[in-house]
Amino acid sequence: MRLAALSLATTLVAVLPLSAQDMVGHGGPVSALDVEADVLLSGGFDTRAILWDLGGATARNITRFHDGNVTAVALLSEGQFVTAGQDGRLALWDKDGRAPVFASEVGVSAVATLAVAPDGAFVAAGFWDGRVQVLDRATLQILVEQAHSDRVTGLGFLPSGDLVSVGGDLRLSRWSPKMKLQARIDLPDLPNGLVITKGRVAVIFADGALRLFSDMGALLPERFLTDRPLVALAATDTDVAAAAIDGTVWLLDAADLTQRHMFSAAGGPVWALALDGEQLFTAGNDSVIRRWSLTDAASLGGAEVQVAQDYTDDSRGAEIWQSCAVCHSLTPDDHMRAGPSLHGIFGTPIATRAGYEYSPALRELDIVWTPRTVSELFEFGPEAYTPGSRMPEQRIGDASDRQALVEFLDRAAQ
Ligand code: HEC
Repeated sequence: MRLAALSLATTLVAVLPLSAQDMVGHGGPVSALDVEADVLLSGGFDTRAILWDLGGATARNITRFHDGNVTAVALLSEGQFVTAGQDGRLALWDKDGRAPVFASEVGVSAVATLAVAPDGAFVAAGFWDGRVQVLDRATLQILVEQAHSDRVTGLGFLPSGDLVSVGGDLRLSRWSPKMKLQARIDLPDLPNGLVITKGRVAVIFADGALRLFSDMGALLPERFLTDRPLVALAATDTDVAAAAIDGTVWLLDAADLTQRHMFSAAGGPVWALALDGEQLFTAGNDSVIRRWSLTDAASLGGAEVQVAQDYTDDSRGAEIWQSCAVCHSLTPDDHMRAGPSLHGIFGTPIATRAGYEYSPALRELDIVWTPRTVSELFEFGPEAYTPGSRMPEQRIGDASDRQALVEFLDRAAQ
């Protein structure tokens, strides 16, 4: 299990000009970002999407609609935006909307990625089961196509209006606006994301390479950035940013992929990137959205990485709990993070904390939490032990670490 230094920023340390603050508001990892002019849109594991005013680094609108992680977000014109989630739904919002102006049905599969047509008329969503949905914003009709035989990992619209997709079946495909296949090529490795930059297709791969393709799929420059998987990507017509699973970020010239800067944005994965003309935004496991200068890759925000543990001691268990504290509080009834408060957890049945909205799957289960069952949860992993849980898959392989964690919880959660 990945128990890297996950942490949560709760305090803005230095007094900074308002225009340069990092954004602190999500209650768990942040999985999606988009930026346009003076607004930033983020989506997270806490099931929230937040529309931020970049001037003041303040939240303008916080939506809570999706059942599960908000996996992809995109800004549209006139303050409208779109969110998509683990629940397989697409939702369209007005700037100050409290409820979506349109939402698709609950899907059988989670949404992995979104793209918006250059004229804003279509929104495309790629799903874990390989399907692509194209929503016509004028008619609200949805076209569905089985685009890949495995997860769709990236989507982008070319200036012509054609759609390009990549998937876990190691293919790149180009589609007409009516989803007729125009071209298809095989890829050398697993693609993890796609953006369009100046009419060309930039794709990041699990082998650590960033490759550019022409709009017909011919391979243009490729750069091997790292031996770790690349997991996040953003581009404008002049810049490309890519991030690896270990939090390293590269800023590259979009024309030939020469490196402008490389830096470490986080101690753990960076799951999402967004670029405007001057700044790069990064987000990942620690719930803070950070901003960086494109000129010198300097940190523009002030969020100090701090562990927001409600209770801690010098034990090994407290150390392990750090990775849980991103999503769980130990204060009674504090359900602002992605998961429920675990105060007083031992001796209580699963999914019974008042004031937290559990997934239907968890409410169906019949488990009483004891040191033994919590230890088993992380021995076998949430996927096996609590199937259908929204808690991301994670395991603690070492039995003495599991023991240290439940002993810590026994002290701290009472
Ligand atoms: C990325 C966020 C995240 C992390 C990290 C995380 N959890 Fe969770 N956890 C959740 C969510 C979300 C739920 C509720 C799942 C649901 O409703 O399906 C949950 C549920 C639980 C439950 C069941 C609670 C109940 O009321 O029945 C326990 C116990 C738990 N987590 C323990 C832990 C421990 C211990 C760790 C660290 C080793 C941890 N979690 C790390 C998100 C997380």
